[in-house]
Amino acid sequence: MKIIDNCSPRLQYPLFTQLILKCIFTGSSYKSLQFVDPQLVDGHLSYFLGAVGITGLAALLGVREKGHVIKGANQTMVVSGAAGACGSIAGQIGRLDGCVRVVGICGTDEKCRALVEDLGFSAAINYGQEDVPTKLKECCPDGVDVYFDNVGGVTSDTVIAQMNKGGHVILCGQISQYNKDVPYPPPLSEETQETLQRKSITRERFMVLNYMNKADAALCELSQCVKSGQVKVLETVVNGIEHMGDAFCSMMKGGNIGKQIIKILQ
Ligand SMILES: NC(=O)c1ccc[n+]([C@@H]2O[C@H](COP(=O)([O-])OP(=O)(O)OC[C@H]3O[C@@H](n4cnc5c(N)ncnc54)[C@H](OP(=O)(O)O)[C@@H]3O)[C@@H](O)[C@H]2O)c1
Repeated sequence: MKIIDNCSPRLQYPLFTQLILKCIFTGSSYKSLQFVDPQLVDGHLSYFLGAVGITGLAALLGVREKGHVIKGANQTMVVSGAAGACGSIAGQIGRLDGCVRVVGICGTDEKCRALVEDLGFSAAINYGQEDVPTKLKECCPDGVDVYFDNVGGVTSDTVIAQMNKGGHVILCGQISQYNKDVPYPPPLSEETQETLQRKSITRERFMVLNYMNKADAALCELSQCVKSGQVKVLETVVNGIEHMGDAFCSMMKGGNIGKQIIKILQ
């Protein structure tokens, strides 16, 4: 993804209009460029790629469409991949929508600190260092009602095992399985399938692109939340398009906090 300012005069884009080149990998034409208003992000154009862009939408619409969060219902939400682009926003939306407890699972102590101290998560678990089942029980004494799943695999089996009856899994992604030769969504263990059935836990596939009719309103909401400070944005910025490949590999291995951004123009 790339942000272009100083718009090309040849295409005669209006002054102050910034463009997002939706997908440089597919060689999209100018027709797939999208006009955006810099005021929506107080000039932080990179937010259009994350918190006020596709990953923010996946977080907000995922919670709204599949999370069944009800204010006053004393719900606990767990987010895996919690310090990433989707996860960091999803947890904050869960808290704003009324979850009394939001617990993040992520890969480093630095990420855990950011979740709790900067983003207002109730607690965070480092899955690389801590015993996740034990820590999850401590952090979620009333069980788990809503699970925003970015990673799948063992982490998700552990969370689902501690979910309450009638809970909801938001199946956002399964990044721990992406390098395996398995279909999407990857098959669940028999034990996890049995838990879902026995406890009537919903787990439907969520694809943000299926909800684009709700995108404009959701982007407005995200913009307001970011501008008011209700939602905080984390980014990891790498300078230079020549580092794009390394940055992507680093993101897949957990090198990013928040949205991984490649800055092309200074
Ligand atoms: N459903 C949709 O429409 C939609 C839209 C956008 C994205 N997604 C999905 O949302 C998820 C997050 O995407 P994102 O763009 O926001 O990326 P991201 O979370 O910013 O970055 C990926 C993170 O995944 C974690 N990770 C990598 N390998 C892992 C593993 N084996 N086990 C556990 N965690 C691992 C790493 O954090 P740690 O340090 O914590 O390991 C890494 O920082 C992905 O699954 C993606 O496919 C879905």
